[in-house]
Amino acid sequence: MPTLYGSDFAEVYSKYGYNQFSARVAELLPRVLRALHLTPDRVLDVPCGEGTFALEMARKGYLTTGVDRSSAMLGVARRKAREAHSKIRFVERDMRALRFHDEFDLVTSWYDSLNYLLRLEDLNKTFAGVFRSLRPGGSFLFDMNTLETLSKGWQRHPSFLEVDTRDAFALHRSTWDARRNLATLKVTCFVRRGQHWARTDELHRERAYSLPQIRAALRKAGFTDVASWGSIRRMTPPRRGDRKYWFAARRPSR
Ligand SMILES: C[S@@+](CC[C@H](N)C(=O)[O-])C[C@H]1O[C@@H](n2cnc3c(N)ncnc32)[C@H](O)[C@@H]1O
Repeated sequence: MPTLYGSDFAEVYSKYGYNQFSARVAELLPRVLRALHLTPDRVLDVPCGEGTFALEMARKGYLTTGVDRSSAMLGVARRKAREAHSKIRFVERDMRALRFHDEFDLVTSWYDSLNYLLRLEDLNKTFAGVFRSLRPGGSFLFDMNTLETLSKGWQRHPSFLEVDTRDAFALHRSTWDARRNLATLKVTCFVRRGQHWARTDELHRERAYSLPQIRAALRKAGFTDVASWGSIRRMTPPRRGDRKYWFAARRPSR
């Protein structure tokens, strides 16, 4: 499989705005936690990417762990944590094979990272790992792209420039496979290296899962009190046409 989130794209992701999504979620989180009566201490962000959300959590005083399988994204995350004198544990690992047990009060997963799981059994494995990682009574908060977003939103502009600066350039081209509910995003990056430009191509694939599929997978892993919203800002019920689904689910107390 070609490298995903390699060093050039990790740099572009971190410098040119891709991380603004999780920065905004971090801003909104205190309100969401209050609404759900959650007062976590230990937080796991998976996948944490280049660490924007994890750093923000650590800054707010949470004991924070981040997991990702991209060593380049984790490299950026570790560098940023060092520069911020922030103590965050970063672990390089596939989210389908989490190894924590009864450790976290809150697990989060942002920016459609779970759509990268292309088979229902991968989603099941990940949810089971998140469930084990939580202490009894702990909560899982996450977002996923909807079928609407992947099949229509992404295809509305099948080719566009996401980044166009003096030092970096990123072209996004997307296609949709309706038979497999699979969106493919080809990201072509150019990063200036002195007098030259380095080119990398990455193929990102996201699968659309329906609301009933996601709810059933959460229940199968053992989660209860599953809530879903179409907007995290307003915490309103999901509706047809929403761009994202937002979820909260709880590992039952013993
Ligand atoms: C869209 S980025 C989101 C990163 C971060 N949550 C954020 O909000 O910026 C998706 C991340 O998922 C990671 N990823 C994809 N599949 C993964 C897997 N199976 N296990 C662990 N990380 C994975 C990628 O390396 C990448 O960092």
